[in-house]
Amino acid sequence: MQSLYSNGFENIYDEMYQTFINYKDEFEFYSKIINQYCKKNVLEIGCGSGHLAKRFINSTIDYNGMDLSNDMVLLSQKRNPTGTFFKGDMTNFYLNKTFDSIIITARTTSYLLNNILVQKAIKNIHSHLNENGIFCFDFIDANRFFPFIKEGKTITHKAETKNKKYSRISFMKPKITKENFMFQWDAKYYEIKDQNHVLLTDDQSEVRAFTINEWQLFLELNNFKVLEIIDRKSYAFDTYVIVAQKQ
Ligand SMILES: C[S@@+](CC[C@H](N)C(=O)[O-])C[C@H]1O[C@@H](n2cnc3c(N)ncnc32)[C@H](O)[C@@H]1O
Repeated sequence: MQSLYSNGFENIYDEMYQTFINYKDEFEFYSKIINQYCKKNVLEIGCGSGHLAKRFINSTIDYNGMDLSNDMVLLSQKRNPTGTFFKGDMTNFYLNKTFDSIIITARTTSYLLNNILVQKAIKNIHSHLNENGIFCFDFIDANRFFPFIKEGKTITHKAETKNKKYSRISFMKPKITKENFMFQWDAKYYEIKDQNHVLLTDDQSEVRAFTINEWQLFLELNNFKVLEIIDRKSYAFDTYVIVAQKQ
């Protein structure tokens, strides 16, 4: 798992990503889809530090959140004392209840590193959905993103909160020797204090991008019907959102 999701670093994620991700827009986008298909409740997989949770909990849609990182679950629960959160791995979970809709946002599907994990996640999601339930998720589009990082790309993202300034310097490059569309993502996280960059953590991850066709086939083979494919660029990546229905 990325080092930024636990052991105290979840607080840095929390601060930085609030400036990268517009959670108000995220909520409007995903709640519109859930309402459009007349679904009354949602499970968010990879709920992170609970910003989308906060908005769902204040809405008419009943919300449950799940994350692999116990520290993220604790942070979500602290932010949302009335919310329901579970620690769980999307590739292997059992919650003893089912949902009208399940969402995975912020390209958390990039951690489904091989096809066995993709299969396991889709099967778990299928079994946790009610009849005609909706599965909605985003993914990094390899077709558009890989040509952009083909030769290796260094990208700096700055984040400024009330009291702190951060900088993340990422180096991304496709790993074309792998069987899937993997890329190397090396990121150095700094706090900027008096013009000096103080290294907070150095994260080296291998993550996965997908093509639309891959997801169409995974979903079809696991008894989902693709209803919509939405082009939705995110702060750093070419991203699609898929809406699929349990058959
Ligand atoms: C990019 S963050 C997104 C968090 C949140 N959705 C947001 O918008 O801020 C990815 C999250 O997915 C979680 N995660 C990674 N692998 C997971 C897995 N196998 N099952 C459940 N959660 C996972 C991480 O702990 C992290 O909180």
